[in-house]
Amino acid sequence: MKRLNRLQKALALAVGTVAAAAAVAGQAIAAPPSSDPGTMQPQVVGGTRAAQGEFPFMVRLSMGCGGAMYADNLVLTAAHCVNSTGNNSSITATYGDVDLQGSSRVTRTSNYVYRNPGYSTSTGGDWALIRLSSPITGAAKLKIATTTEYDSGTFTIAGWGAASEGGAQQRYLLKAQVPFVADSSCKSAYPSLKSAVEICAGYSQGGTDTCQGDSGGPMFRRDNANAWIQVGIVSYGEGCARPNYPGVYSQVSALSSAIAAKATELGGGSTTTPPTTTTQPPNGRVFENANNVNIPDAGAAIYSDVAVSGISGNAPSTLKVDVDIKHTYRGDLVIDLVAPDGSAYRLKSSSTSDSADNVLATYTVNASSEAANGTWRLKVQDTYAQDTGYIDNVKLTF
Ligand code: ARG
Repeated sequence: MKRLNRLQKALALAVGTVAAAAAVAGQAIAAPPSSDPGTMQPQVVGGTRAAQGEFPFMVRLSMGCGGAMYADNLVLTAAHCVNSTGNNSSITATYGDVDLQGSSRVTRTSNYVYRNPGYSTSTGGDWALIRLSSPITGAAKLKIATTTEYDSGTFTIAGWGAASEGGAQQRYLLKAQVPFVADSSCKSAYPSLKSAVEICAGYSQGGTDTCQGDSGGPMFRRDNANAWIQVGIVSYGEGCARPNYPGVYSQVSALSSAIAAKATELGGGSTTTPPTTTTQPPNGRVFENANNVNIPDAGAAIYSDVAVSGISGNAPSTLKVDVDIKHTYRGDLVIDLVAPDGSAYRLKSSSTSDSADNVLATYTVNASSEAANGTWRLKVQDTYAQDTGYIDNVKLTF
């Protein structure tokens, strides 16, 4: 049970911290440590566990780096994570599970590496593409920023790297958020910052950062359409999470055309996800709300609204409700469907023993006494402290 585990993990942390303090401080662009999935720390460097499916594009590379799926057969990572351009079958990519030992994980072997040849020059970006020997068909891709529009604000970072400076590699994916740091201010920490191709992020007080083993992984945020977009590639830093030493990331917007051109050459094509065609089931009309809504921890109920129109008469006795909620402890959640007139239909109650991640379910509701047209609402309440999440998508089929 996860709650008990959390206590056990807190105890493990107390032990782990001693070990971390005794370890040698990490170095910028040190050779990444090899992964040690057996060692686990709950959270240091300001991170928390990512939910299964929250960042589906994340990849762990066997040399101890991170990466992001760019195409079904290509992983975007950092140049400093790989040795040279050419045929290379020595890298294993792990995809599909926040737990590197988890049963949803998918692994592939590399067959080619492209390392940005200009990387060591004063204007060269820290990026590389790894081609997989067979594609991960239908893999979630992270699209890359092609303009500077998103090179500001708050970014999300994620990786299986060390959770403290000098600390162990992680078995479970950790995530954190860091604010943009302007080049002018980043230069006081790193006078030789390549500001044309590097972007910095972190708090001036430190405490949250990527670290050794996170290299090559993405730094990303939401774009105007609420989709994840990659703005950075983990590159280097002085130690990890030190005050006044932000993390330095390759600036993807400045490198995107070179990355895209090389990806096409490697048979990866464009990263653009094809538009999802909403197939209308027989006699069915589909209405959905794909905007994310955060669910406050042990807080008030929140709603995701679905506007329904153009249907005459009442809703069917088999109204289908597809619910996609990302959450790190789904037993916390109480879920109702609220009809336009306010009547509520309970879809799911809370449970102290259902510690699994996420709600990905189709509920069938007898809504035949409800008028179909109007605003339907998915109502979600988190009833226990600690784990959190958000409504990813709700879809009604009439
Ligand atoms: N170069 C490191 C690696 O190989 C990543 C360092 C990131 N450091 C930082 N303080 N943001 O994994």
